Amino acid sequence: MTVEPQAMDYATVSRVIRSRRSIRHYRPDPVPSSTLRELIGLALEAPSSFNLQGRSVVTVTGEQGRAALVKATNGQPHPQEAPVMLVFVAESGAWREDRGDVWETARSRGAWSERFAAASPEDARAFYGKLSARGLEREYAVKDAMIAASFLMVAAQSAGLATSPMNGWDEDEVKKAIGIEGRDGLHIALLMPLGYPAETRLHPGRRDHALTCFSESYGR
Ligand SMILES: Cc1cc2nc3c(=O)[nH]c(=O)nc-3n(C[C@H](O)[C@H](O)[C@H](O)COP(=O)(O)O)c2cc1C
Repeated sequence: MTVEPQAMDYATVSRVIRSRRSIRHYRPDPVPSSTLRELIGLALEAPSSFNLQGRSVVTVTGEQGRAALVKATNGQPHPQEAPVMLVFVAESGAWREDRGDVWETARSRGAWSERFAAASPEDARAFYGKLSARGLEREYAVKDAMIAASFLMVAAQSAGLATSPMNGWDEDEVKKAIGIEGRDGLHIALLMPLGYPAETRLHPGRRDHALTCFSESYGR
């Protein structure tokens, strides 16, 4: 049977997404650095608002850094066991910085017209200026970081690695652990252990789609 290349892609992506679970126990085996680089590269392929890319990933593999994250996560097992901890940082001040490299790259690749690239800095400043006035800078930066984290979870699963997204941590302690203590424009979006799984977990299920998928208006 001949299968359309895109149908094959769909089957693989669908299997990868459906088989991913949040894994709390890890083998100590290290993740090869080339794999790690590749996975982070895929995470950073995620879209971001205005392509400002106001999010970063900090990889923590050293004893000291991991111990600090174990403390920050209040003794949960996965940060203690996973050989790699990824910290997704949201940069709410990105729009205030010079992002000339972003506009120039998009323009020189022919992805954005001269006109679009030239208007983007001003458009981004106007958009974020309004958000800032409403106290929403952090929330919008976290969106960008979370999309990157989602890409990483799917990429890791496809490479035979496990992850677990984590909310349970003290932000000040995580910031201290990665050297950004007191930096107000930087926020922790998510922590993510990464490594080879030492457990299998059953799918905990999702609510009936009738409760969460609506048509045309919410709740219907
Ligand atoms: C934003 C976010 C934060 C989470 N924080 C934690 C956490 O701190 N500790 C933990 O064990 N699991 C955490 N989880 C994992 C959820 O419990 C898990 O995704 C959920 O039970 C569904 O299971 P599944 O990921 O295997 O489908 C978090 C998940 C998300 C999306």
